Formats: sequence, C-alpha cells, structure tokens
Amino acid sequence: MSNYHIKHLEEYYQVYRKSVREPDNFWEEVAEEHFLWRKKWDKVLEWDFKIPEVSWFQGAQLNITENCIDRHLTTRGDKTAILFEPNNPDEPAEHISYRELYKRVNKFANVLKAQGIKKGDRVCIYVPMIPELAISVLACARIGAIHSVVFAGFSSTALATRINDCDCKLIITADGSFRGDKTIDLKSIVDEALVSCPGVKTVLVVKRIHSEITMKAGRDLWLQPLLDTASAEGKAEVMDAEDPLFILYTSGSTGKPKGMVHTTAGYMVYTAYTFKNAFQYKENDVYWCTADIGWITGHSYIVYGPLCNGATSIMFEGVPHYPDFGRFWDIVQKHKVTQFYTAPTAIRALAKQGSELVEQYDLSSLKVLGSVGEPINEEAWHWYNDVVGKKKSPIIDSWWQTETGGIMIAPIPYVTPTKPTYATLPFIGVQPAIMNELGEELKGNQVEGRLCIKFPWPSMARTIWNNHQRYKDTYFSSFENMYFTGDGALRDEVGYYRITGRVDDVIIVSGHNLGTAPIEDAINEHPAVAESAIVGFPHDIKGFALYGYVTLKDAGEGRIHDNLRKEINQLITDRIGPIAKLDKIQFTQGLPKTRSGKIMRRILRKIAEKDTSNLGDTSTLLNPECVKDIIDQAI
Ligand code: PRX
Repeated sequence: MSNYHIKHLEEYYQVYRKSVREPDNFWEEVAEEHFLWRKKWDKVLEWDFKIPEVSWFQGAQLNITENCIDRHLTTRGDKTAILFEPNNPDEPAEHISYRELYKRVNKFANVLKAQGIKKGDRVCIYVPMIPELAISVLACARIGAIHSVVFAGFSSTALATRINDCDCKLIITADGSFRGDKTIDLKSIVDEALVSCPGVKTVLVVKRIHSEITMKAGRDLWLQPLLDTASAEGKAEVMDAEDPLFILYTSGSTGKPKGMVHTTAGYMVYTAYTFKNAFQYKENDVYWCTADIGWITGHSYIVYGPLCNGATSIMFEGVPHYPDFGRFWDIVQKHKVTQFYTAPTAIRALAKQGSELVEQYDLSSLKVLGSVGEPINEEAWHWYNDVVGKKKSPIIDSWWQTETGGIMIAPIPYVTPTKPTYATLPFIGVQPAIMNELGEELKGNQVEGRLCIKFPWPSMARTIWNNHQRYKDTYFSSFENMYFTGDGALRDEVGYYRITGRVDDVIIVSGHNLGTAPIEDAINEHPAVAESAIVGFPHDIKGFALYGYVTLKDAGEGRIHDNLRKEINQLITDRIGPIAKLDKIQFTQGLPKTRSGKIMRRILRKIAEKDTSNLGDTSTLLNPECVKDIIDQAI
C-alpha cells in the first residue's frame, strides 16, 4: 500500500483511518519518502489549539525550492515545469523547463540578495500572471525571504495597507498587465501606493506591456538588466520547518485584512500530497489551474504543489472571454490539458454562452475537472460534468481556504464517487466536525451546522502576521479546541459533506472573499453618507453579488442618486479594487437596528434576496418603521 498515492476507495478509507489514528506515523512516512530534507525532524507534531500553537516536523531543515526544482534536475531537467500561455493567443506559449527554472530562480534570488534582501525580510510581489510572478515567489523562498503576493487587481490603497502591515522592504511589479483587450498600468498604482509606504526602499520592475512609466531614481530599477548579469547558480538558504514561507492576505468580516502566515515544511508536505491525490497526477500530465497566483489556489496549486511533484503547470495570463468565450477550451486543446481546475463563477459564465463553443474543441485529453472557491450550484455542476467532461472526467469539488493552505474536503478522482454540489469526503488527515450553535458536536450523519476542524493538519496557517490574538479570536474562540472555518456545512446520510456557505459577514463574490466591514468603511468615507450596510444576494454568474443599503446625511433625489452611486462605487474601487463594487445601491431613510444599535443584516439580506414573506419578528427593532420603506423601495 502506498500512503502517497491512493488508487481506490477501500484504500482511501484505510489510509484515512491511519491518518487519524496515528497522524504522527502517517505524516512521517509521507515526509520521509517523498521530500528532500537537509535535516530530519525531532518531532512530527506538537499542538495546542488553546494557545493556539501548531508545529509540524519540528527540528527539520529544508528549502522548499530544492524540492520544487533542484530535486528534479537529474530526472526531469528538460521537462516543462511552467508552461506560460500569454493573454494574446498569437503570442507563442513559453515552455520553461525545470533546468531553465533553476537558472531563472537563482538569477532572481541573486538580484534580491544584491538588493540587500535576506532571510526573514518581507518582499511584496504585485505582478500579473507572467512567469516572473512564479519565479519571484520561488526566488524569495530560495533565500528565505517571506513573500507577500498581492493580487494585481487590488487598488493602491489596498496594496499600501498590505505592504505596511508586514513592513515590506522591496516590491516587485511590472510596467503593466494585459487583461483581454485592456491594459492596466500597474506601475502607477504602485507609485500611488508607495506615497504612504516609507519602508519600501526598492522597486523592481518587469517589462511586460512596454508602456511609458516613470522610474524614481534611487528607488526603481528595471529587472531585466539586473537578471542579465546575475549568476544562474546559488545555494538555497537552509530553513527551519516552522520558518515562515509566505504571508497571504485574506478579508475578514471586520477590520483590516488578515495576513495569514504559512510556514515551510508542513505546507510543502500537505500541498504536494494533496496535489498528487486530488488530481491523480501522473508523470506526463499537463495540469492547468486557472486561478491567479495572487490567491491561495495559485500559491498551492500552480506553484508549490505541482512543482513539488515535478509536474507541468500552466500559467495563463488572460481571461476566459478573450478573444472569445472559447479561450479556455482552445488552451485545453492546444496543450492537451489533463487536469483542469477552475472556479464556479467561470463555469457559470462559460455555460451561459451555450455548449456549441465547447463542442468545437477537442477536449479528449481531460481526465479530471476541479472546482474551487465557492459552492458550485447543481446546474453549473451538470454543465461542467456533461458538456466539458463528457461524463467521463470526475468533478473534484474541493473545499478549502487561504487559512487551510491546501484542499481539505474533496473527492479523489476515480476513487470517491462524486455527487453534485457535494465536496464529499475529508481529505487524508483532515478531521472535520459539524457543530451546533451551543458549541456541541453533531455526531453521526444527516446533520447540519457550523464547520470546524478538530485536529491540526500540516498546512494550516500558524498565525496572523503581527496579530496572534486576532488569529485566536477569529478561528479558535467560537468553539472550544476547534478551528472554526466560518462556513456552514451538512453531512448527508453516507457521510458526504456539502458546504452551505459563509455563516459570518464574509460574502463570496465570483469566488473572491469580501468582508462587509471594509466595504462599508469605504462607502462611509463619502461626505454625503451617514451609514451603510452591505449584504450579498444570489447572482447568476457571480454566485453572490453585493447589495448596499446607504443612508444619506441629506436625502437627495433622482439624478443626484445616480451620481452618488457612481461615486460610491469609485470609492470602493479606489479603496479595495473593482472586485468589491456594488451591483445594487439602495438609498434608505434608516437601517433596521436592534435596541443595542446593531444593524439587523438578516432582514436586509432577505430583502435583497426578494424574500420578504418571513422576516421574523421586527417589532423588537429600535426602528421597525424603516423596514416597510426599505421593502417598498427595494431594487
Ligand atoms: O466559503 C468557503 C469558500 O471560500 C472560502 C475560502 O475562500 P478563500 O480563502 O479565498 O480560498 C478560496 C480558495 C481555496 C471558504 O471559507 N469555498 C472555497 N471552496 C469551496 C467553498 N465553498 C463551497 N465549496 C467549495 N468547494
């Protein structure tokens, strides 16, 4: 029996049982057999969810890039590691072999070192989906610098907040990015952000769109000339198992974004292990995850997990609808993609175009279809299964989070029978629990409640950068001795899990986590606004879209309202990014509040969902009269 590669259901149950009964032995065997260590561990696991503190492979030393690159050079030196598909379909794809990747990562690492970056320093990466993004991530890891990738769709304010939160010294960016038929001036966004980031001393700029940009003397440097003269050799820094590998920000329901800290050894072991099994990855497969490396999916399943397994991982620069809605299928056909991993929002947008476009392409190479980021609705699931997968490629509906680092609940393709809209069974080593509101675990099947995890897994985030108390409060305080996910879930009669959605004030729009508080804060900055409340409402393509209820200091009318709507959305774009724009804005006289002054979002959510038949008892509200007005004027 191989613990590393599960091939049938019985084996899954066997391995799962072992991973739960003897977690130390189980993970030790996986770590022993499949990775390159400079020094082995003294202890596999130490943990206490009360502090909370979790440590995997304590005492071990390694460098994750030696596992992602160096280790493959003898057997896979000429194999494509990263296959870059540009935005423009007429621009040739770039095949970066493991040997080439080794050289490019070393060169980049040497450039960073020459700029004074050393182990433990934070480096911000604000780069579009071009090879330099993956290479800069690996270059940081090579020298032990902690990378903080910020999705290159975030605004300058959002970027500045993230840079300052973890005191980045250096930022890597590009002159701009291509997105379909548009270009985005990234460098000017960076310039704007840096006005409020005094800690950043160096900006390294990749030339991508060849636009005119301003370079600030003494701070900004073009990357290419530095790479040209840098050595292609370099020793990897020796890292301790629990040294931070990266910080990645995720929205919380309140306050500023949370810098989730992932550490080295456990993250590596778990992402590699889950990649191998969740995608049933085999040596000559061509794997494509359509996510951006700016999100956790890209970190774990474009860069680290695939490369640790010596896989070929596609990086796509563009968007699904450029030059037309057949682009994804064109890429699958062109590169004979075997595993395809995308988000329900993309599936819904493509399904809306009908099936004819898909049928024009040869998708016979596909073996596994993945879905991630939000619940996949039944209709989208069937379209994906029938039209894209021709009912022969299992759908891996994978549930996980930025905080979990790797896939937590998902079927193993060709092993676990799938069921539409169900993430099915816990991954090896994952021990979920469904809790009721009283804090009791609901044992057995056919239960529904809040989803927690009751035992550590190797790739869990260890803390929030500079704010361990917030980490404890957010994830370990709702239920005793449990990690609380923020999601609701049910377990059906055979033990399959279905994620029912967020139970906190996070709304998932097109697969992106958006906290309501930061958006409300942005709206409230508008001088005409008294207060606001954001809720989600179901949307055909985005899954959820945002509905804003806004109370003005002075009620305006008609055209003024239209202008205000534009201004409010502009403020949100400036403060957060276009992904957080509101689909609907309703101006209200007041917002329903409890007697303690808390906004009753439950009522607002129902109104936005156009389900006002059962609003519950509104008489206990401080201002019940406003509810009727809000219903009457709902959009
Ligand atoms: O609500 C869950 C939803 O996305 C949240 C995590 O978002 P993020 O940290 O951005 O990571 C997304 C990519 C891993 C979860 O708390 N979510 C993610 N995958 C699924 C999902 N909801 C339902 N089904 C999924 N497969």
